[in-house]
Amino acid sequence: MSDLRDPFQRPLRDLRISVTDRCNFRCPYCMPAEVFGPGYAFMKDPQLMTLAELVRIARAFTMLGVQKIRLTGGEPLLRADVPDLVRALKQELRVPDVALTTNGWLLEKLVPAMCAAGLDRVNVSLDALDPAIAGRMNGHGLAPDRVLRGIAAAGAAGLPVKLNMVVQRGVNDGEILALAEFARERGHTLRFIEFMDVGNTNHWAAAQVVPAREIVERVGARWPLEPSAPAYRGEVAARYRYRDGHGEIGLISSVTEPFCRDCHRARLSADGKIFTCLFSALGWDLLGALRAGADDAELVRYVGRVWGGRLDRYSDERAEVLATGEPRAKVEMSYIGG
Ligand code: GTP
Ligand code: 5AD
Ligand code: SF4
Ligand code: SF4
Repeated sequence: MSDLRDPFQRPLRDLRISVTDRCNFRCPYCMPAEVFGPGYAFMKDPQLMTLAELVRIARAFTMLGVQKIRLTGGEPLLRADVPDLVRALKQELRVPDVALTTNGWLLEKLVPAMCAAGLDRVNVSLDALDPAIAGRMNGHGLAPDRVLRGIAAAGAAGLPVKLNMVVQRGVNDGEILALAEFARERGHTLRFIEFMDVGNTNHWAAAQVVPAREIVERVGARWPLEPSAPAYRGEVAARYRYRDGHGEIGLISSVTEPFCRDCHRARLSADGKIFTCLFSALGWDLLGALRAGADDAELVRYVGRVWGGRLDRYSDERAEVLATGEPRAKVEMSYIGG
């Protein structure tokens, strides 16, 4: 395997691919409806990586040591060829871990095709069970029932399921225990995600962040918890298991306890640009290089150069950046792939 490292000695292990910048939800913390309205300039089809281009690009990353590829968006299941992509990643490229992050709206229908293609696991966003709160969180007033059916279908098909809850104080933090109970009963890991200042449009406010520590206390007061070891170095979520044996929860605390030191994730936008941090403003045009005729060895060298120069550690620096009062340009999360 390649021993490619960035200047902080971080290896390249995971690739998160955004297959589309479009989404059928308008969660205000990610794609607020007033910004991502009818006039918003989404990518045009010719800008998007084709299936064949996606596979060539993914191959270059695997040659540099990537073992885990996560498909995301926007909403990845809006793209009809996602099962074909999963099949290629598993059967042609033999990627050990191919995962999907989805809002679950189209999941029930697509579980059979995704399983047949060889998908290893799925993470589903679920911010509330209460219909009114869920409707506010998805920006379309939709009750969670259809997402819950998708989660059930994935579980019934034997796909390991994690649930992702973005917690916003005063919006859905009253749902923490209800969601924990829901996940415990079904054997799914629930991850609580601190509301992050991604992009420039989501009206992030520090006061709306519920610190991971507080969440552990609130859940632990109801069902006692104990910390468990990370599954692997650089895991995004800190894990706690229920003392009664009913599974575990995860805390993704990018705001109060940043984890840049071990960050080994590259991101690829749907138009084929490499971003070496969730909070980057600039991407490296790998698809442009491919379309200009780069062969596989050149693509590998391109990625190697980008990673080799990577100095990102935004979450570690956040407090200093915010203290300057100067807004920093960032790309939107739907574009870069959460
Ligand atoms: P697992 O492989 O199941 O552990 O998934 P994951 O947590 O890596 O991926 P998922 O798509 O479920 O992401 C959950 C949350 O973690 C999202 O809000 C992501 O934006 C956030 N996240 C993932 N990677 C990073 C990262 O490198 N930095 C920051 N700040 N947040 C991240
Ligand atoms: N802060 C934290 N998490 C976010 N996500 C989207 N926007 C934000 C934000 N501002 C989450 C989604 C999904 C994952 C890919 O990223 O809810 O679970
Ligand atoms: Fe869509 Fe996911 Fe963003 Fe919500 S968080 S708007 S479901 S991409
Ligand atoms: Fe990695 Fe950037 Fe997230 Fe830090 S803020 S963990 S460098 S993606």
